[in-house]
Amino acid sequence: MLDRLEQQPPDALLALIKLYEADTRADKIDLGVGVYRTADGGTPVFGCIKAAEAKLVAEQPTKAYLGPEGDMGFVHALMPHIFGGDDPAQGGRIEGMQTPGGTGAVRLAISLAKRAGVENILMGTPSWPNHAQIFADIGVNLVAFDHAAADGSANMFELRNVLRGASKGDAVLLHGCCHNPTGIDYTNDQWDEIAEILAETGVLPIIDLAYQGLGLGMEEDAYGMRKVLSAVPEALVAYSCDKNFGLYRDRVGALYAYTGSAEETTRVMSNGHALARANWSMPPDHGAAAVRIVLTDAGMTAQWVAELDSMRARILQVRQKLAASSNAGAVNLAPLGTQQGMFAMLPLNKEQIQALRDDHGVYMAGSGRINVAGLTMDNIDKFVSALAAVST
Ligand code: LMR
Repeated sequence: MLDRLEQQPPDALLALIKLYEADTRADKIDLGVGVYRTADGGTPVFGCIKAAEAKLVAEQPTKAYLGPEGDMGFVHALMPHIFGGDDPAQGGRIEGMQTPGGTGAVRLAISLAKRAGVENILMGTPSWPNHAQIFADIGVNLVAFDHAAADGSANMFELRNVLRGASKGDAVLLHGCCHNPTGIDYTNDQWDEIAEILAETGVLPIIDLAYQGLGLGMEEDAYGMRKVLSAVPEALVAYSCDKNFGLYRDRVGALYAYTGSAEETTRVMSNGHALARANWSMPPDHGAAAVRIVLTDAGMTAQWVAELDSMRARILQVRQKLAASSNAGAVNLAPLGTQQGMFAMLPLNKEQIQALRDDHGVYMAGSGRINVAGLTMDNIDKFVSALAAVST
């Protein structure tokens, strides 16, 4: 029976990690998977996480099971940072549960939407390739529209059309900030309009917030999501701590539901718990426990904010240097200066991307997406020259 299964290709983005590792060139550059790198090209564990882990080792009383909702101390400690305001839970209308990474949160959000009767999910493309894979695996239809307009801004014309043409039972997946893969975010004015249209059309917003703090700041990056929640009766928010706490392999995420009443939110979450139990039973504890320790200690929280601020500042510095480069051949890097977060898309074809890898040791996704955080002040010039070599 198992011989009926067809061979599947490895995930193209994750396969890049191994290809890069196998390359022995000392000056190779990894612009593939979305991990932050410091000015020396490393991805160290955050100082605040190291401190929290030391505390965890010393003080954790047990590793006995938690429930499918995971560490609720973690889930609640995050809420003021995500939702803001005096009452981040909005009287119980918002509640969450821990998930295995942002992927677990997106998967749970789509499964909940499907359970609630959603068949179509509108989404601007290109998007994170795993979004479409999750939709297909769960069995919802992707209604794709162009995320980017020709001038490099967000394509509001398409978004308006697709939302106005949607039916009440449809959902839309929106990137809360730091759009992956384009780096093209909605402006605050555009979010205001999106919130208004969502309120009028009744389309269910599912907001993927995987990079809060890596765009303009923790508060600024939450603007769109908070605006949408203030306008609509219900929404789902898929959250990731993989990037903003540097916990990638520890898989730390959360799914939050916002509905019309505390009772309804409790009912939605009970479905989340049931789905989690059938999928992964309960999420991995360690990383979330470390985040909880950080966020419940004022000193460690301040250290985390400072570490996040320095990451964002470095990403901005790299973006500005790239945008100022006038010698990248046919590739115009100027738009990178106004985009946000870790990613940008370069207009390169497959041959050019392969040549960058083979001839210059520059690794990027087959879509032309680069992780700008993979560049350092020392290797930007080499990267820009490589772009010129393959594109002129
Ligand atoms: C990325 O887009 O590179 C990250 O979100 C990592 C992943 O899981 O794809």
